[in-house]
Amino acid sequence: MDLGAALASGEPQVAVRGAALYVPRLARVAPAAAAEPVLDPDGTVLITGGTGMLGATVARHLVERHGVRHLVLAGRRGPEAEGAARLVAELGERGAEVSVVACDVTDRDAVAALLAAVPDAHPLTGVVHAARIFDAGVIGEMDQDRMARVFAPKATAVEHLDALTRELAPDLAAFILLSSASSVFLGAGTGGYAAANAYLDAVAHRRRAAGLPALSLAWGPWEPVGGQDTVTGEAVRNRAGRRGGVVPLTPTEGMELLDAALPTGEALVVPVKLDLRALRADAALGAGVAPLLRGLVRTGRKAARAGAGDSGGLARKLATLSPAEQETVLLELVQGQVATVLGHAGADQVRAETAFKDAGFDSLTSVELRNRLREATGLNLPATAVFDYPTPLALARYLHGRLAPDDQAGPTTHPLLAELSKLEALLADTAPDDATRSQVATRLQGLLTTWSTATATEQDADEDLDFASASDDELFELIDTEFGH
Ligand SMILES: NC(=O)c1ccc[n+]([C@@H]2O[C@H](COP(=O)([O-])OP(=O)(O)OC[C@H]3O[C@@H](n4cnc5c(N)ncnc54)[C@H](OP(=O)(O)O)[C@@H]3O)[C@@H](O)[C@H]2O)c1
Repeated sequence: MDLGAALASGEPQVAVRGAALYVPRLARVAPAAAAEPVLDPDGTVLITGGTGMLGATVARHLVERHGVRHLVLAGRRGPEAEGAARLVAELGERGAEVSVVACDVTDRDAVAALLAAVPDAHPLTGVVHAARIFDAGVIGEMDQDRMARVFAPKATAVEHLDALTRELAPDLAAFILLSSASSVFLGAGTGGYAAANAYLDAVAHRRRAAGLPALSLAWGPWEPVGGQDTVTGEAVRNRAGRRGGVVPLTPTEGMELLDAALPTGEALVVPVKLDLRALRADAALGAGVAPLLRGLVRTGRKAARAGAGDSGGLARKLATLSPAEQETVLLELVQGQVATVLGHAGADQVRAETAFKDAGFDSLTSVELRNRLREATGLNLPATAVFDYPTPLALARYLHGRLAPDDQAGPTTHPLLAELSKLEALLADTAPDDATRSQVATRLQGLLTTWSTATATEQDADEDLDFASASDDELFELIDTEFGH
């Protein structure tokens, strides 16, 4: 295993397993091999947050599509929640018996009482955990109280549901956690919320590993359902929409995806609607493709060559340009990213010398811009980049200083480096099968090892030579330095 290869890959996450390196990629869910879990119509399904937007949508779907007849909808407000009476009436007309219960699911005793109240005639066969409190904010703005507020209805509650259903609900066939894609790849600017959802995903894995039913659904953004919406939902949707390539789900699509996810046997499924064409177009414009999506969004030769979509390509492109041209390319890159983040139609709507704060940047969008530029350039940029370099031009010049080769006529023109650039381009444009990929990786690693060993040997030899040709004075000085008097 070569850690150098892991670092050189530019991947934000690499898992090391023995000699192999793994990187995360979203992949399409394989068609179901297992049978869809059947919810016994005589059993009861508990939905936490059941009077909320998605909770109510799932309740309707379970009654209509899965024949569920006994539902408990739990929320802190219980029957006082907006729309609760209407929902009970609607589900009642479809033959379901529904109780809406005031229960704070962060309270273990309250959850235990909720489960104990499920009648023996209709034992608990399903749990859908949809309770949440949303709080957007970058990690630096989070304090303990804000984290606790977001974590409690997700993480604390899921621990109670997990532990107590193990004891009190032996007939459980489905344990469904409504998580959010923020836990996987849309989390910028939602530090606490993203982490709380990742907690749900981890609990689903833990339960699966223990042989218990569990499915965490890391939803992308949703359209408002039946006039219901939350300010927070709005915030997520707008941010995601601006990002391009992520389209809000309608209730019908969401429930189709729920049904597709149930029989997969996976602990975590990410039901998100991606506009792959928009993502490819973004990539061609220099936005790059989030590493996690690279298995789904294939950028063609043209996009890769456009150079800005991958950081290696950008560096290669800059190496062929004059300093003035380099600055222009980087300014266009910054303007393009600013346009995407702010939802403008094009880079031409972004002025080079207008301050980011006057253009409408806040802390969330600043982090998003930083992330996108980090992705496009491969540079480790500070979160404060947008404040430190307050206009697109200033930021482009800063990137220029960090990216442009110092000596145009020097190292970049060495024949070895020129050949390496060609090899990089070839690798970027090729999508070999797994066996070839593995052979190529082994050869490259072998080359690197041989090269490093040869370089180290030459350096040792050089040092020996210096030592051998050193004067007496130099030798004594060395002995003094190394061993003192
Ligand atoms: N909407 C989206 O675009 C979207 C996208 C991705 C993922 N999701 C996920 O889908 C799930 C549902 O989202 P939503 O949009 O339906 O949210 P929502 O409309 O805000 O509903 C959340 C529900 O949780 C309940 N709740 C909050 N704290 C509770 C507590 N301590 N105990 C019991 N109930 C509690 C609320 O009822 P009370 O106020 O009465 O307690 C409310 O009914 C969430 O897990 C969310 O992360 C939603």
